[in-house]
Amino acid sequence: MNTQVFEQNLQNLQPEQHQIFEHEIAKANFDLNSYLSERKNQVEAALAQSIEVVYPEKIYEAMNYSLLAGGKRLRPILCLAGCELAGGTVEMAMPTACAVEMIHTMSLIHDDLPAMDNDDYRRGRPTNHKVYGEDIAILAGDGLLAYAFGFIISKTQDVSAPRLLPVVAKLSYAVAATGLVGGQVLDLECEGKQAIDVETLNFIHTHKTGALLEASVLCGAMLAGADDEVLQRLSRYARNIGLAFQIIDDVLDITATSEELGKTSGKDEQVQKATYPSLWGIEESKHQARRLVDAANIELIPFKEKSLPLMAIAEYITNRTH
Ligand code: FPP
Ligand code: MG
Repeated sequence: MNTQVFEQNLQNLQPEQHQIFEHEIAKANFDLNSYLSERKNQVEAALAQSIEVVYPEKIYEAMNYSLLAGGKRLRPILCLAGCELAGGTVEMAMPTACAVEMIHTMSLIHDDLPAMDNDDYRRGRPTNHKVYGEDIAILAGDGLLAYAFGFIISKTQDVSAPRLLPVVAKLSYAVAATGLVGGQVLDLECEGKQAIDVETLNFIHTHKTGALLEASVLCGAMLAGADDEVLQRLSRYARNIGLAFQIIDDVLDITATSEELGKTSGKDEQVQKATYPSLWGIEESKHQARRLVDAANIELIPFKEKSLPLMAIAEYITNRTH
């Protein structure tokens, strides 16, 4: 992913634009909290029914232990919002939204393993391998990853197969070495090297976090039959919020408590991870995140009131406390 996209967008920004967006949101009286909680409840209900526990129960329980542990459900909500913006329905996108959360959960289970970040605490409870052992945790991740793709194909309704196929391909490349896996590899290689440059840091995060966030929005829009122009705008939106999300994640790792985060805070410093605050400091990092959110929201202007959920989600990303 090219980091030029961020620079180009940032160059076009006017300082007062962020007030304009806040004003737009207020003007339309869009209630982000109600929107997020309604969508989150819908996603929770769909996830709760997505994996039936059958023989051998242990593996299904391990998968559900992490999948149903709460979380912000940001990726599925982005998928639903992308679909709605492009004229589709929540029902049409729900299986893909669930699949995106299954994949995200898989990546967290594997990321927490002793061979990776060796974490004990996630989404406010012991990590999967702490409860089920490393062997079952690896398999629970594998089970979620493989199941996600079948789930999209077998559960999606009112979308034709030719429209569904590129959605599956998009999601697959977002997880493969071209996305999440590639970002994670570079992240592991850079551990202990605090002197990495901003391009390397951007590469890690545009792949490790950004690719799945982007695929979430785009897959939602693709299900609704969005054209190339819409997809390109949404792609630039998602890349910008993806990076802003990670910058805020790095800031929160320093400023929030483990209780607030539901995972071990202060971990980046502990393992000497290069982060945005380590390069820029906390205040400048927050400022950069704010600018990226503004750049993201600029892409949504042509969609008028249909853009409000995605604009509000972008605002939420910079204002969040966990
Ligand atoms: C959390 O980052 C980790 C990720 C967002 C992705 C990790 C990716 C993998 C483990 C690749 C697995 C993929 C397959 C297909 C098996 P973080 O450690 O910076 O954040 P944290 O503080 O939440 O742990
Ligand atoms: Mg980790």
